[in-house]
Amino acid sequence: MNLYPALRPLLFNMDAENSHDLVLKALSKVGRPIARLCPTPSSALLSQPIDLMGLRFPNPLGLAAGLDKNASCGPAFASMGFGFLELGTVTPKPQPGNPKPRMFRIPESRSIINRMGFNSCGLETFLENLQGNRPSGIIGINLGKNASTPISGALDDYKLGMNAVYNHADYITINISSPNTKNLRDLQEGNELQNLLHGIGQSVRMLQDKHDRHVPIVVKIAPDLDSNAIAQIASNCVTNHIDGIIATNTTIARPSDLPRHIAAEAGGLSGALLTQHSTEVVYKLCQELGGEIPVIAAGGIMSGNDAVEKLQAGAQLVQIYTGFIYNGPKLITDILQSIRQSRHPQE
Ligand SMILES: Cc1cc2nc3c(=O)[nH]c(=O)nc-3n(C[C@H](O)[C@H](O)[C@H](O)COP(=O)(O)O)c2cc1C
Repeated sequence: MNLYPALRPLLFNMDAENSHDLVLKALSKVGRPIARLCPTPSSALLSQPIDLMGLRFPNPLGLAAGLDKNASCGPAFASMGFGFLELGTVTPKPQPGNPKPRMFRIPESRSIINRMGFNSCGLETFLENLQGNRPSGIIGINLGKNASTPISGALDDYKLGMNAVYNHADYITINISSPNTKNLRDLQEGNELQNLLHGIGQSVRMLQDKHDRHVPIVVKIAPDLDSNAIAQIASNCVTNHIDGIIATNTTIARPSDLPRHIAAEAGGLSGALLTQHSTEVVYKLCQELGGEIPVIAAGGIMSGNDAVEKLQAGAQLVQIYTGFIYNGPKLITDILQSIRQSRHPQE
């Protein structure tokens, strides 16, 4: 059953963040019954396993970070057919994020601008929520730093996060690409990048020894990086034994086809206006990496074809956020169908 086309006009009539909160509240309370009313992919589509970073992903489609920041709706999203969920971004201490309004839909270009600023319940509540709502399947936990932590102390915040979530995550994402936390993106280049990844590497080795288990570490990057910066990230991630890279987060660019009334809003742009640029970054990154470590693609996947293009650019997994807001759960079936068709064209 596909109720989303009927529901969407009601949700889109409300303020973007209010409707997001309402849906998440409903999913956290009665998630599985609601998910059962959604179109569910067939078992053949759900089962397209892929082995990566020492994990077996049931299928290559994931929920991108930011939709379930506080880990309150995992079982509902998992039962819609995602092969993996990335929860967070979670910061060490609770923080409110930026003042509202801070999320803007742009329906004419199937895009969103957001400047949420890591609104987070903090690690303690996040882990309580996760324990009460642990979905089956692969869970990535996306870590950020508190706004009150100076950028020079970012590594300490990531270490706090890694220590706390190590035993609860199948993989951990180090988010250094949100445009809405001051100077965060500086961590993507030069000495800042080298020092951060070196510190993360040291921390992982200690945690691995302590827990006798390796949890893959993934770094999430922005689309607003030139070729040199992409090459630098690729080589630093390989040198420091990072297990994967997520490309990309939202962009601070404002394409000329963005309606003028909204272009002035600060924040990161996601959705259809990001698709092509993000695919180019995925392609360049994969060329630089030469298969040394895998790439997980996010950025403007609005259709099955968009997902296939990301895989053709070299990514091994894909994630969606904005496409899910515009298309609802049916996009999961469409993407899994297109991926299967691209792999088995004779079927
Ligand atoms: C409202 C909103 C909040 C987001 N919050 C986060 C976040 O907390 N952490 C993160 O790593 N990415 C966050 N993202 C970025 C998405 O995970 C994704 O990388 C980006 O939106 C591009 O994919 P899309 O075009 O499918 O949305 C957020 C995106 C949106 C639209």
